[in-house]
Amino acid sequence: MAGRARIPSVEHVRPRPEGVAVTSTSTSPPGGAPTAATVPAVAAVEVTKVYGSGDAAVHALRGISVGFAKGAFTAIMGPSGSGKSTLMHCLAGLDTVSGGRIVLGDAEITGMSDRQLTMLRRDRVGFVFQAFNLLPTLTAEQNILLPMELAGRKVDRFWFNQVVDVVGLGDRLRHRPSELSGGQQQRVACARALVARPDVIFADEPTGNLDSRSGAEVLSFLRSSVREMGQTIVMVTHDPVAASYADRVVFLRDGQIVSEIVQPTPDTVLDRLKSLGA
Ligand SMILES: Nc1ncnc2c1ncn2[C@@H]1O[C@H](COP(=O)(O)OP(=O)(O)OP(=O)(O)O)[C@@H](O)[C@H]1O
Ligand SMILES: [Mg+2]
Repeated sequence: MAGRARIPSVEHVRPRPEGVAVTSTSTSPPGGAPTAATVPAVAAVEVTKVYGSGDAAVHALRGISVGFAKGAFTAIMGPSGSGKSTLMHCLAGLDTVSGGRIVLGDAEITGMSDRQLTMLRRDRVGFVFQAFNLLPTLTAEQNILLPMELAGRKVDRFWFNQVVDVVGLGDRLRHRPSELSGGQQQRVACARALVARPDVIFADEPTGNLDSRSGAEVLSFLRSSVREMGQTIVMVTHDPVAASYADRVVFLRDGQIVSEIVQPTPDTVLDRLKSLGA
């Protein structure tokens, strides 16, 4: 299947009720205004990323065009070093691109100042990392609310309760991270990302440090935040089972998108990884 498509296009992708496929290069329908169905939550257009220069240059991204639909859960897979984290960091405004453009919602983030990027990340982007990154002296509730408080934003208690409910942490809110299991800690990190209602949550190997049961809990929660709250999630993973929770999987190799699957299962993901030689 490796020869199927170097850059995925809309023809391969069936529309889905909770988020529609987007073209890789266009963000608006021909002759019409952009609609919620066609404007991706975040998109890369012909993005390149080079680390270093001269003989030492590493071409981490080699012309990536991809859109991530609103209200959809997308997984990014590929061998170690294929550029997954680099792509995610560029999409999230954590790293700058060498060429091409990143568009987050209605904002072109390429060329933004550091200050603008900091505000954009604070207000519109959520992160979940492999290491849970919770503050040990704060309770679960305080950890969840900290970014909102630092940003001086008012906490919507109704929304907070709904998030806590979906995450299933109601009886754990007064516990500190050391009193929680790994899965519970990661669910706190997910709730922290979700409570700010970001446009996109980026998750880099969110289940990498978890056993399979806790990993399944976190993945189910991420999926319900997409289904029930309309959250948009982009997740990097090495695990075909984790990827099967997503609506769509895109595959990277050597800094390029080489394939994609819609409505993945662990078997179809594994087969595709094998056929791509990953
Ligand atoms: N700060 C950096 N300076 C130089 N090279 C870098 C830097 N960050 C990443 N790279 C290189 O860019 C390429 C892509 O790295 P990236 O971390 O995006 O891969 P990945 O797909 O996330 O891999 P993994 O699955 O191991 O996390 C690799 O060759 C890596 O060595
Ligand atoms: Mg990585």
